[in-house]
Amino acid sequence: MIHPMAMTTSHFTQITECDNVLSADVGFTTDLGERIAPNLAWGTVVLLFGELGTGKTVLSRGIARGLGVSEPVTSPSFTVVQEYPLPENHWLYHLDMYRIGDEEDALSFGIDDYLYCHNAVTLIEWPERIEGLLLDTQGQSLVEHQTVPIYIEHMTENTRRISMPRHLVLRMS
Ligand SMILES: Nc1ncnc2c1ncn2[C@@H]1O[C@H](COP(=O)(O)OP(=O)(O)O)[C@@H](O)[C@H]1O
Ligand SMILES: [Mg+2]
Repeated sequence: MIHPMAMTTSHFTQITECDNVLSADVGFTTDLGERIAPNLAWGTVVLLFGELGTGKTVLSRGIARGLGVSEPVTSPSFTVVQEYPLPENHWLYHLDMYRIGDEEDALSFGIDDYLYCHNAVTLIEWPERIEGLLLDTQGQSLVEHQTVPIYIEHMTENTRRISMPRHLVLRMS
């Protein structure tokens, strides 16, 4: 049996053509997030895959900056969600599912409000935890708007391999 965590990661990366980018330091990952941000349409749900300490929050911080968030962007691992208001009634939602036990927990928490939101960009760390809310039994995406999978791998102390959809890499300035 395929481990469910591997299933979600490979599903989303398989259905999307991905390119690898090598990050040499924290600054590079933050800049990358900033450059990705303008290409994320409202309603997009970004799935951030990667082990603990790979840089999901660092990349999220960059995306937040790129969307115009000026307040400090802290990890939502304790609060589960951090909400950042943006101009014209737009939002950045930053979620961390690490402490969420399963899909039922996520639903009681109110995850729906964040998955189907046309005026926000939603970043989700540890999306593996809520796989059943992201994919149907046929493996089709349940998220109404665009889903962007990003996978971060630890290489050395300061380097990371970041895999993301080719269309995002091509559109980066
Ligand atoms: N190239 C890099 N990109 C991102 N983070 C890096 C990089 N090199 C080292 N780091 C360090 O890795 C850690 C990543 O932390 P964090 O973003 O909180 O991880 P996660 O959210 O994936 O658990 C930080 O301490 C950061 O300084
Ligand atoms: Mg994190």
